[in-house]
Amino acid sequence: MSIRIPRGTQDILPGEVEKWQLIEEKARELCEKFQYREIRTPIFEHTELFLRSVGDTTDIVQKEMYTFEDRGGRSLTLRPEGTASTVRSFVEHKMYGDASQPVKLYYMGPMFRYERPQAGRFRQFVQFGVEAIGSADPAIDAEVIALAMSLYRSMGLRKLKLIVNSLGDKESRSAHREALVSHFKPRIGEFCQDCQNRLEKNPMRILDCKQDREHELMKSAPSIIDYLNDDSKAYFEKVQKYLKNLDIDFTVDPNLVRGLDYYNHTAFEIMSDSEGFGAITTLCGGGRYNGLTEEIGGPEAPGIGFALSIERFIAALEAEKVDLPLNKGIDCYLVSLGEEAKDYTVGLLQKLRMAGYSAERDYLDRKIKAQFKAADRSNAKFVAVLGEDELKANKINVKSMESGEQTEVDLDSFIEKFTELYQS
Ligand code: HAM
Repeated sequence: MSIRIPRGTQDILPGEVEKWQLIEEKARELCEKFQYREIRTPIFEHTELFLRSVGDTTDIVQKEMYTFEDRGGRSLTLRPEGTASTVRSFVEHKMYGDASQPVKLYYMGPMFRYERPQAGRFRQFVQFGVEAIGSADPAIDAEVIALAMSLYRSMGLRKLKLIVNSLGDKESRSAHREALVSHFKPRIGEFCQDCQNRLEKNPMRILDCKQDREHELMKSAPSIIDYLNDDSKAYFEKVQKYLKNLDIDFTVDPNLVRGLDYYNHTAFEIMSDSEGFGAITTLCGGGRYNGLTEEIGGPEAPGIGFALSIERFIAALEAEKVDLPLNKGIDCYLVSLGEEAKDYTVGLLQKLRMAGYSAERDYLDRKIKAQFKAADRSNAKFVAVLGEDELKANKINVKSMESGEQTEVDLDSFIEKFTELYQS
């Protein structure tokens, strides 16, 4: 039996990979404009890191981590997300002492979650994420959201829906928590086992339960918005004011709780509003995590960030039928006729490439007609033909595939002449 790819993973083949590269390039370009710098952290971390940050009552930690013991008996975990590693690195490298604050970082790379695979849900997926650590200014919350929206828009997505919420500060959250416990406790027996376990440990997570979504107590559950203290309310109002200044439409959704424990104050998600999109419509999620650096053993440094997966990004582009500028074609295809001319193109091809052009030749000893077909397939802007007679005369024939115009040029000054033709 042949060996197949593991469930929930995918090969990104040429033809498809260009879409990924386009998004990656755009993301890097935007990060440069917004002044976020790249950080690369390991694919695996000590398991303890995720227990302390993502939270031990979350689905990610309870059901989805790829955890293993290494030969030295240490418990390690393939990273399920990027915030924990970024914050660990921030603390470990004492970036809180850097001259320029806040520290603004971005990452792009594979994450791993043992989830049930379905459209838009993979076991290995690639996240692009940003983290701004060291500022509690609501303007940076708006900046982070603006970065995500700008990335989607710059790729041509229009059907987007931004939802925001505030989870408040510690005081607000604990008041809300108490209200939730009193609300659910008398009838917790009617809820699933997960919810029963969450009641004391993390009652807010009950609101995120898929199984009991329709239970009548869900709709009447106390909303965090009603428990925000004055500071939290003022903070949330500022974030909303900045979003309006930036002309970013949003909806406040008091039920948005997010699936990770480290959040407080701002929480947000960007969804696809496109009809063709599958059941999972969340493209991007993020929020503020004041207190996380302390949790990981560092000094106070409030942070905010988001992450989005390239897989869902591409699915949204497809659902909206966005035309991407792919298949650019090569600059020159070298066609040759006869043994000597064929040999000559080996050096010529290298010269073209070193001069900065994308170029190709035949490697299958094809007849001239088939070589022209190959040039066509590679969408070549120019085809340069070298036959035996041309070679003897020290000439080469360059044809523009756009205008059909043919020019005979000296072989010795081929690159200079090609450049003139290319630029004209
Ligand atoms: P998250 O909501 O768990 O947040 O994931 C963020 C995004 O990753 C989702 O909106 C989705 O696009 C993508 N994603 C998650 N799981 C999968 C999957 N199984 N397959 C495909 N895509 C997936 C976080 O990870 C936080 N670290 C975000 C953050 C950064 N908060 C603050 N800073």
